[in-house]
Amino acid sequence: MSVRLARTIAEVRALVADARERGASVGLVPTMGALHAGHGALIRLAREETAFVVATIFVNPIQFDRAEDFDRYPRTLETDVEFCHRLGVDAVFAPDAAEMYPDKLLTSVDVAEISSRMEGEFRPGHFRGVATVVAKLFHIVQADRAYFGEKDAQQLAVIQKMVADLNIPVTIVPVATVREADGLAISSRNQRLSPEERRVAPALYQALCAAEALIRGGCRDVGPVKQAALAALARTPEIRVEYVEVADAETMHPVERISGAVRIAAAIWLGKTRLIDNVLSTP
Ligand code: PAF
Repeated sequence: MSVRLARTIAEVRALVADARERGASVGLVPTMGALHAGHGALIRLAREETAFVVATIFVNPIQFDRAEDFDRYPRTLETDVEFCHRLGVDAVFAPDAAEMYPDKLLTSVDVAEISSRMEGEFRPGHFRGVATVVAKLFHIVQADRAYFGEKDAQQLAVIQKMVADLNIPVTIVPVATVREADGLAISSRNQRLSPEERRVAPALYQALCAAEALIRGGCRDVGPVKQAALAALARTPEIRVEYVEVADAETMHPVERISGAVRIAAAIWLGKTRLIDNVLSTP
């Protein structure tokens, strides 16, 4: 059966209600489109675990801290719907901004503390925008399970805490980062890299791996671990580092000493493109 395209909240709710009547469990894959193999992994797992899969495609204006980033974000609805069809998605919900935000928004979701460091520090308001739109999508679709990539580990932690704090009845399923053969995490932003930037971009993952090797070797002090990543990144002059941080793997709170599972996370600029990545370390 071909994928159904819903442009309004009423349409997607009707499709989900219909599936529920047939006794189907519902999986939700929220995206901003420009779908790639990373989204493919989310959809495949949702397809395995739930009977009716809804992918949402919405470039959410309220989570962009820079207007230029919002304007440059790729919009490829036709190929995205085709991608969803090939992977067996049942319904694509692709609203426009007026459908999602018909009136001035006076209510928003703020997940304190987790939202304030790393991405939150460099992208003010970003996680408020993410948490607010994801809460809206949860209420609109009312899925049993929702799928999020570990590449955005801090976003994942924000959403998990929001769901726990607000008793939202959905199970959050984390999905491992999908990488190119040279280690670069797959992201819609990779499309913006020039051939030369693309060539050096794997240095980000390599730097995180160098830091992780130090933890594996027994280092428990965050200082030298961060230093190892920074030294590796400094070998690529095209890279401008925004942050390197070591954070508790569950809460994403930065730590000083490593006593349990952590994520080594970083954000860099390559020309006009900002890339983030992280690796898990379980000493
Ligand atoms: O990760 C993303 O693509 C977005 O932040 C999300 C979760 C779809 C919310 O707009």
